[in-house]
Amino acid sequence: MKVYTEKQQMVKAIDAFKEKKQTLGLVPTMGALHKGHLALVKKALKNNDKVVVSIFVNPTQFDNKEDLVKYPRTLEQDVALLRSVSEDAILVYAPTVEDVYAGNTVSETFDFDGLEFEMEGKFRIGHFDGVGTIVKRLFDIIKPDKAYFGEKDFQQLAIIKKLVEKHHIPVTIVPCPIYREPSGLAMSSRNTRLKPAYKEAAPFIYKTLETAKTLFGTKSANKVSQWVEKQFESHSLLKLEYFIIADASTLKTVKRKSNKKAYRAFIAVYADDIRLIDNIALN
Ligand code: PAJ
Repeated sequence: MKVYTEKQQMVKAIDAFKEKKQTLGLVPTMGALHKGHLALVKKALKNNDKVVVSIFVNPTQFDNKEDLVKYPRTLEQDVALLRSVSEDAILVYAPTVEDVYAGNTVSETFDFDGLEFEMEGKFRIGHFDGVGTIVKRLFDIIKPDKAYFGEKDFQQLAIIKKLVEKHHIPVTIVPCPIYREPSGLAMSSRNTRLKPAYKEAAPFIYKTLETAKTLFGTKSANKVSQWVEKQFESHSLLKLEYFIIADASTLKTVKRKSNKKAYRAFIAVYADDIRLIDNIALN
């Protein structure tokens, strides 16, 4: 399994596959790989001859500089994990900031038809411009046939679909379900930074989402939101940033339920200084 740190070499390898008419999948990541990432990689391996896994902690998508500094970087371990999945069908692209951005780390500005102003967009200013900038660049360098994104970051997935549609990028976006710990906690690279008491408390997030889903069967979105807010008011370790029930396609907060629409609940919680997000389909 080869690890490329320079785009020229990466592109050369990719061109050779394309000449042989091999299909190419891309799994963009920021590293600190866990089973959730590996589920995306395994799915990509089923559908493509070769899979590029990019590992790049993208500075342009961090609204919080401390979060960027503290983000776990475990390249050697990541490479070993990927090697255990496939020695010959995976290629790693782990570039430096300089290789990707060539000195210009200012994000492009995107219009994602309003998707960027909901939820994460309200709390992480500039985040989705940074995500759009890096993912567009990766599509441009790697030119994959298919690219894999997790529903763990459901809003990001919606935004990438919009990016591809608006910029006519010839790639198929493949959504992948949320991979969870046995406790229900959604896997995340940030979980490794949780101190034991917070790690123990964190499954409360998904438990609350599950109960919210049940309640949504008979109660209004407003009532369910109030109930969730109350659960966190009395919690000593977890601090709720937002809980929102939204239309799964527009991501706009639900005012009145309709039987014809798909809804999803979204949550962001602080466990100590670590921000955790999760979501669940409600119907
Ligand atoms: P990162 O957080 O490393 O996630 C990489 C991909 O793995 C994303 O598509 C994310 O949704 C998916 N993923 C993470 N945890 C998951 C889980 N528990 N279950 C299923 N999928 C999961 O998301 C990013 O990096 C970055 O924003 C990126 C797209 C790479 C752009 O920099």
